[in-house]
Amino acid sequence: MTSDIWTEKYRPKVFADVLGQDEIVKRVEAFVNKKSMPHLLFSGPAGVGKTSLALVTVKALFGDSWRSNFLELNASDERGIDVVRNKVKDFARTRAIGDVPFKIIYLDECDALTKEAQQALRRTMENYTQTCRFVLSCNYSSKIIDPIQSRCAIFRFKLLPKQDLIKVINSIAEKENINIDDSAKEALFNICDGDCRRAENILQSSAVITDHITDEIIYSLASVARPKEIKEIIQLALNNKFIDSRKKLLDIMLEYGLSGLDIIKQIQKEVPKIDAENKKKMELIEFCGEAEFRMTEGSDEYVQLEALLAKIVLVGYK
Ligand SMILES: Nc1ncnc2c1ncn2[C@@H]1O[C@H](COP(=O)(O)OP(=O)(O)O)[C@@H](O)[C@H]1O
Ligand SMILES: [Mg+2]
Repeated sequence: MTSDIWTEKYRPKVFADVLGQDEIVKRVEAFVNKKSMPHLLFSGPAGVGKTSLALVTVKALFGDSWRSNFLELNASDERGIDVVRNKVKDFARTRAIGDVPFKIIYLDECDALTKEAQQALRRTMENYTQTCRFVLSCNYSSKIIDPIQSRCAIFRFKLLPKQDLIKVINSIAEKENINIDDSAKEALFNICDGDCRRAENILQSSAVITDHITDEIIYSLASVARPKEIKEIIQLALNNKFIDSRKKLLDIMLEYGLSGLDIIKQIQKEVPKIDAENKKKMELIEFCGEAEFRMTEGSDEYVQLEALLAKIVLVGYK
């Protein structure tokens, strides 16, 4: 039985399956065709195809023998850089099988490594350059030390554009025989931006409940309020309806099981779209930042949320 988890079941198998990263795919494919490649650094947000492209690459390079020529490690494993180094050493001791002159080591979450650990990694990369190519993956390339960056071809992955995310959703929906409303697809994009893994996970949990997926289901499963409801809260406060606004906010938090931080982030996301003067919107965004900071510092979230609503009311007066 293939994996029941859709993010594995529907992992891209060939280059053409990796959507929304056209330039990157083209360049990596060219390395594969020449059977020659430098170390690579994949940087970018979660769920956009970094691991998938690495896997597609090794499968294209090595065909059926890819497993014996590929080592996948996670740098943020608490066991640390020594374990990484030892595993690399064992793996790199033997030559690649087949006509490709190197093996591939995929090291995920490299930006979790300390600077010292990254120095050790750099030395390891140098030691095994004859037999191995490293594909390093991280969220922020700025957290990777220069000597590593300068040894790699750097690829910056982007969030999937809407049409590509929806393409993935449509293709899964067809294969799984589920019926999904257009508004539910919009909801998925709205919630996940271009994080394809998150979209697939929410879609799969929805499909467990029903074979007709609506935006209502998506929002409730994602623990995200509908943008419309958040806008209503803001609008009520702007119109000096503090009590109503507060009630609505509490109802929504309970209904969707949202934390204070979830709410703040959603309010901040909706502010630019509300009907108000630009200057007022900027003030509101500033207040969101303040409330978010205080909450993460441990301040009571209800106190902060009420204070935020009060500030929105005051902005409405101006
Ligand atoms: N660019 C993409 N094209 C198609 N599917 C994608 C893409 N990015 C992610 N996915 C889907 O999300 C899953 C997780 O992606 P993954 O490559 O592990 O993301 P990352 O390593 O960037 O966090 C994949 O198995 C696939 O189903
Ligand atoms: Mg990954």
